[in-house]
Amino acid sequence: MPRSTTLVLAVVALALVAACAPPDADDELEEMTPEPETAMPAQALVTPFDPATRPYELDGPLVPASVTMVSAWDVPENPLADPMLDGSAEGERVRWGYRLFMRTPAEAPRLTPSEMSCGNCHLNAGQRNLALPLVGSAGMFPEYNRRAGVDFSLEDRIVGCFMRSMNATNEVEDVGGVRALPAGRVTPTPDTEEIVALAAYLRWLSRDHADGENPPWRKKNRIPADALMPLDQLDPQLGEALFIEHCVQCHGEDGQGVWIGDKKAGPLWGPLSWNDGAGAARVYTLAGIIRFMMPYLNPGVLSDEEAQQIAAFITSKPRPAYPYKSQDYQTEPRPIDAVYYER
Ligand code: HEC
Ligand code: HEC
Repeated sequence: MPRSTTLVLAVVALALVAACAPPDADDELEEMTPEPETAMPAQALVTPFDPATRPYELDGPLVPASVTMVSAWDVPENPLADPMLDGSAEGERVRWGYRLFMRTPAEAPRLTPSEMSCGNCHLNAGQRNLALPLVGSAGMFPEYNRRAGVDFSLEDRIVGCFMRSMNATNEVEDVGGVRALPAGRVTPTPDTEEIVALAAYLRWLSRDHADGENPPWRKKNRIPADALMPLDQLDPQLGEALFIEHCVQCHGEDGQGVWIGDKKAGPLWGPLSWNDGAGAARVYTLAGIIRFMMPYLNPGVLSDEEAQQIAAFITSKPRPAYPYKSQDYQTEPRPIDAVYYER
């Protein structure tokens, strides 16, 4: 998309955001200016969070699911703004983990070629209700992983996120007859520094939660079972029409995302998006994300069916291939909505 179109779209989106914004948020919105498409601007990572200045009340520890994109910059628990976090090695790890979470491609270039950040899917740095919140998740690990058929530590889970949601498979290149990782790339393992730092941020986020106590907000981005539609009743063309109506002003017709101030949604498909082995590449999983956290100007406005139609459209698009799909679901049955797997 030419830059001018992107800017126009971003301005339109901004106007829309402003139109729905509560009065207190106006100042913040005026300061947002669209950025050129190529730059990776330094996100405002340290905006201090003061509940008293917010036009909503927190939902437990979380930003409520119903507030609009004006809240996108709110991070209730921000390690960069926490005076209790000292300069110890662990304090540094937590802070770096947070930065990695918010700007993954910039902070972890050796791990991922994608343009996805953890915070694109786990909104408000993993601190928003019904947007895949991660507060309290750390203490639930180790946990059985159905896809792998074994217990996963928190670090294993984060490696999985990297390999799939961030497409860090770093598919080997043929360099002069030798099969090798692209220059400078490494494959993440549970001991990789970036993984350890992300785990440190997530453990810090869960420090007030007892191990093994399932937080009530966990894993709630689900379409209810009785509202799931058979896959052959989903129509990507209908989904595309809904996408054009509700999503393009921020995600772009090409699905690659437009800048809104210093924020840009991650690419929804194509080579820079999550790969086809990711949870978000499953139709019902993606529908559960969309249903409750998007469209960002009016989250929750879509019906269960509309969310599934849009998810069918997005999963009909090409995305990078996860090269180890044949090793998944060896123990447990493969879910029917894992549509990129061989039938
Ligand atoms: C494309 C969207 C997407 C991206 C990007 C993404 N995730 Fe996730 N993540 C998910 C989905 C979907 C789940 C499953 C949530 C559920 O079961 O309700 C999940 C689950 C998790 C869990 C397990 C939570 C729990 O309570 O069991 C962790 C931890 C996690 N993600 C961390 C990360 C980290 C760290 C990153 C960045 C390296 C990341 N995710 C990037 C979509 C994403
Ligand atoms: C007002 C702007 C806006 C609208 C409208 C909007 N989104 Fe988003 N969306 C965003 C932003 C911004 C993010 C990333 C959030 C962040 O990084 O804080 C996002 C994230 C997402 C994600 C997580 C994965 C990724 O690649 O970033 C999905 C999936 C998504 N949106 C789907 C949709 C769908 C489907 C619609 C239409 C029903 C929609 N969005 C409408 C702004 C919007």
